[in-house]
Amino acid sequence: MSRIAYVNGSYVPHGEAAVHVEDRGYQFADGVYEVCEVRGGRLVDERRHMERLERSLKELRIAMPMTLKALGVVLRETVRRNRVRDGIVYLQITRGVAPRDHAFPTKPVVPSVVVTAKRLDFAAGEKSAATGIAVVTVAENRWPRVDIKSVALLPNVLAKQAAREQGAKEAWYVDASGHVTEGSSSNAWIVTKQNKVVTRSAESGILRGITRSVLLDVLKDQGLTLEERAFTVDEALDAREAFVTSASQLVMPVVAIDGRPVANGAPGLVAGALRRDFHTRAEIS
Ligand code: PDD
Repeated sequence: MSRIAYVNGSYVPHGEAAVHVEDRGYQFADGVYEVCEVRGGRLVDERRHMERLERSLKELRIAMPMTLKALGVVLRETVRRNRVRDGIVYLQITRGVAPRDHAFPTKPVVPSVVVTAKRLDFAAGEKSAATGIAVVTVAENRWPRVDIKSVALLPNVLAKQAAREQGAKEAWYVDASGHVTEGSSSNAWIVTKQNKVVTRSAESGILRGITRSVLLDVLKDQGLTLEERAFTVDEALDAREAFVTSASQLVMPVVAIDGRPVANGAPGLVAGALRRDFHTRAEIS
């Protein structure tokens, strides 16, 4: 089946989908994105993703190019045309096309909108969750505005590649004080020996993950105690469990850090239960 992409008002064959060479997203990474889980052909947590999108755009002073309702129609239509039942939909909005100049265009430009959708292998995700993934640590080297879901992901690209070259699936950034901030494309969590679930506060150093936000509700349902604070790599190695969260991986157990096992090196019960129950608190529409 041929894939379809939405580009600035048209649905086009994926292989021909293109933006202008002077799109500011292409030249300056001057844009933002969202990745939304698709489950049973429906969108997971669209409202929260759209709220974060609006915030990212506002922080960068990029205008919202269409109403949220219209954007919802485009997201669903892209999912439908690609016949995605389980997977993700990707949305990118850049400041638009203008002659190359670092400062904002002086004449008003229309932001560029691109939407793609793809299937994810549901069974492969479950298999990964059953065995857990390895992570490696890398020095935090990103700009401080990681709260903005910007397409400027070069440090994340290099971190993920470092993970891959070491046989791991994710890289955890460690800041100058030795604390884990987050993964290259996920939020980081541990479960302590006292059964406390710990994740960094979203006030600094991390993207406020939508999966993270939803999971806070699931934690409450399960009667688990949350501690929003930074943790070190040593604390994670000494923890009962570790895991990461993102729209594409949901709750994914971490069983090794830099080649050393977390607890007994097997996925934990808390991560398993949180993964199982995640969609009870997600909004599916
Ligand atoms: N990544 N932190 C970073 C740096 C991320 O890139 C992501 C998401 C998250 C988790 O956010 P959420 O739960 O809203 O997916 C945290 C997406 C999935 C990506 O880049 O593909």
